[in-house]
Amino acid sequence: MSFPTGFVWGAGTSSYQIEGAVDEHGRGPSVWDAFCRTPGKIKHGDTGDIACDHVARYRGDVALMKQIGLGAYRLSVSWPRVMPGGDGAVSEAGLAFYDRLVDELLGAGITPYVTIFHWDYPLALYRRGGWLNPSSASWFEAYAGAVVDRLSDRVRDWITINEPQVFINHGHTTGENAPGLRLPIGDITRIVHNTLLAHGLAVRCIRERARTRARIGWAPVGLVNSPVGDSPAEVEAARAKTFAIEQPGAWNNTWFNDPVLLGRYPDEVLGLVAEHLPAGWERDLEAMRQPVDFLGLNIYQGGRVSLGEGGEAVPVRQETGRARTAFGWSITPEALYWGPRFFHERYKLPIVITENGLANLDWVHLDGRVHDPQRIDYTARHLGQLRRAIRDGVPVEGYFHWSLLDNFEWAEGYDQRFGLIYVNFETQQRIPKESAAWYAEVIRTNGRSLGPLGGEAVPANAAGADQARGGGS
Ligand code: FCB
Repeated sequence: MSFPTGFVWGAGTSSYQIEGAVDEHGRGPSVWDAFCRTPGKIKHGDTGDIACDHVARYRGDVALMKQIGLGAYRLSVSWPRVMPGGDGAVSEAGLAFYDRLVDELLGAGITPYVTIFHWDYPLALYRRGGWLNPSSASWFEAYAGAVVDRLSDRVRDWITINEPQVFINHGHTTGENAPGLRLPIGDITRIVHNTLLAHGLAVRCIRERARTRARIGWAPVGLVNSPVGDSPAEVEAARAKTFAIEQPGAWNNTWFNDPVLLGRYPDEVLGLVAEHLPAGWERDLEAMRQPVDFLGLNIYQGGRVSLGEGGEAVPVRQETGRARTAFGWSITPEALYWGPRFFHERYKLPIVITENGLANLDWVHLDGRVHDPQRIDYTARHLGQLRRAIRDGVPVEGYFHWSLLDNFEWAEGYDQRFGLIYVNFETQQRIPKESAAWYAEVIRTNGRSLGPLGGEAVPANAAGADQARGGGS
């Protein structure tokens, strides 16, 4: 079985992770530039100063995308490259870079999906309170407006914010990501609120100012709990856990998606943190909830649950010797079935998988090539599950593999290689991995090359009813 006609096959990157050129175009510093200079924060003291040198090499990178046959490419715009001080003056040279990149993509027949914010927050705004500042949503709106004014004659597909849960939780609660803060829950509550409002104001701004009909979404992490069996009670328990808020913190789905997509804070949030919400929060809900065209989901792995005696979901113990990636993330392909399904059923929106992929221990083999069968197998299994979701009626518009290139993996520095294309960070040489050729064939055949099993089976060492359901498509 192939994927639906018009299915979007893509790959993604983000600005700070690949661009380099941190001092070009009058770019201002971001919180990540500062964080990378704080001793002990990034493995080996790595920085994004050069990264994949993409600003200088974007033409070659687009040529490689074309070679793979990508229908779409998800890029992000660097806020401090476009507005060095975070608000106010725009850098003409910064915007011109994205102009050229978009033109290059369109010339290669590749549709740009533009993420407006993928974590490289202007340091100047951080110094003014960052996401805690009540003006932070308006700052974001102004920046989004500058990007839309410049690119929307050619860009149709927009993603406002990437993984709000991660930049808020890892950046402001655990401190493992920039800006490295460890704030109490009251501050986190206000940061989440301002971020949700920023999303809403940006959507409204894109709708009002775009020069072509815009298609807009956002790209939260999809935290998925999959049932190991498929009895209705177990499915409901898994769904309930997926959408529960079990502790007061930013690591959940509904604190983010319910306000933006349903126009209300979940009751658990109000029960836990209502006292910390800024005055007038009810009014802000209207601005947060703007009609969007798709829900992006970044899904790499998920939990597995079975049915407890009281009807609740009980996490299944991870089996000894479980399949895992170089990052240590569990390989749970069924998350790409239950995730799209649960999220579509709750929010009634078409789904785009905005990120999925794995870190693998890739190197250049004696024959000069990069063989990465793990990436091929991981991706085949996940696409098989995604196809099963589509077959069961979930409208999935597209799939963006993370990532096009090996790149700067945040606090991990360059240790974790996620690319379809290998990057030698000493020489900047690119070598498309075996998975790139494999993905090219998947794209060319619109998924038919996945074969009849298509990776629908879950990992061989994972017990559970899904295995029995694995075959046929
Ligand atoms: C996601 C991020 C992306 C990349 C992948 C591996 O959390 O959105 O930038 O780091 O993980």
